[in-house]
Amino acid sequence: MIDLFKEVSEYCAFDIDPAHKVPVAIIGAGGIVDGAHLPAYKIEGLQVIGIYDVDSAKAKDVAARHGIPKVYATLQELLDDPQSIIVDIAVPAALQPDIFIQVAAAKKHILAQKPMATTVADGLMMAKAVADNGIIAAVNHQLRFEEGVAAAHKMVELGWIGNVTNVTFEVNLITPWEMWPWAKDLERLEIMLHSIHYHDVVRWFLGEPIKVFCVAGRTQGQYPIGETRTISSYSYDNGITALVHANHINRGGDNRAEFRIDGDKGSIRGTLGLLYDYPTGRVDTLEVNSQVVPTDGWTPYPVTTRWFPDAFRGTIGSVMRAIATGAPLRSSVADTVGTLRLVEALYQSMDSGESVDL
Ligand SMILES: NC(=O)c1ccc[n+]([C@@H]2O[C@H](COP(=O)([O-])OP(=O)(O)OC[C@H]3O[C@@H](n4cnc5c(N)ncnc54)[C@H](O)[C@@H]3O)[C@@H](O)[C@H]2O)c1
Repeated sequence: MIDLFKEVSEYCAFDIDPAHKVPVAIIGAGGIVDGAHLPAYKIEGLQVIGIYDVDSAKAKDVAARHGIPKVYATLQELLDDPQSIIVDIAVPAALQPDIFIQVAAAKKHILAQKPMATTVADGLMMAKAVADNGIIAAVNHQLRFEEGVAAAHKMVELGWIGNVTNVTFEVNLITPWEMWPWAKDLERLEIMLHSIHYHDVVRWFLGEPIKVFCVAGRTQGQYPIGETRTISSYSYDNGITALVHANHINRGGDNRAEFRIDGDKGSIRGTLGLLYDYPTGRVDTLEVNSQVVPTDGWTPYPVTTRWFPDAFRGTIGSVMRAIATGAPLRSSVADTVGTLRLVEALYQSMDSGESVDL
């Protein structure tokens, strides 16, 4: 079994080929850049040459603490800097399309934070800008690179659990929404900002569903105005199903974040350690129980990295590899339009009380 795990762990490895490394400039000096992007880039020894934020004091503080040599005074200054090859954008989603289009027009390759945009129309416009300008552009759907999720995907591809019959994500958390004051008044909250990761991963495993149904709720006393509880179900051809269930107002104090993939020859189950104590986190776990390879019951796969910050090495590394070799992206802008379409369908279902065909 340990030998069999080798192919899986090689698929999950992050180390960026030194020959692929190119300088990066960053737009946005917020919590996620400070706490995950930059720590991941430090592990990889990447060169971050400059940063821009509308809040220049914040940009200066982040630059000083992470050893970034330039703080751009304007977006134009960043765009005009010939030194950067990739621009890493991490601003609230409603502001991202406009910035993205300008970066694409400057012919810089892009890694854009999720959600890439808040509407399918904006997503399509961004995908067109990528094609028109001949750039490489990925979305930071880094859950596709989290070691447990990526290992599970590889095990499915290798046929260890046969044909997949169901994918489930279940999280029950106390989420510190106060960390994102700009999200307080968002009508569309939970799926747009959080569960979009799980919905994107369900698509990665199963493709586009035929139909989705979603119900949502709010809990008295919650800080944001948007939905903080969602239950989404998917149906596919041949009776294949998926479920995403998220609650962010867990007053029981027993945070849980689990996923499971069932097949007709076995199952895979895992936990997302990050969410047990966000943003500090704990180890991620993964186990497989297969009738195809010799597991003899639930057998742990040794997850040795974490969603934060390690999976962020994966997304930036995929952009660098695509630039250097033409390798396909795991979470391209063009593909992510499908995730936005799915999110839109889930909100339509939530609002109408009806299932929505895709
Ligand atoms: N797992 C993940 O991938 C993950 C986790 C958290 C946040 N995010 C996403 O990352 C983005 C940023 O989140 P955050 O937690 O860092 O938020 P944050 O509020 O901590 O930071 C956002 C930053 O963007 C800056 N900003 C706003 N408008 C700007 C503009 N026009 N130009 C330049 N900078 C601008 C703000 O000044 C602020 O510093 C959001 O889209 C969020 O959904 C992703």
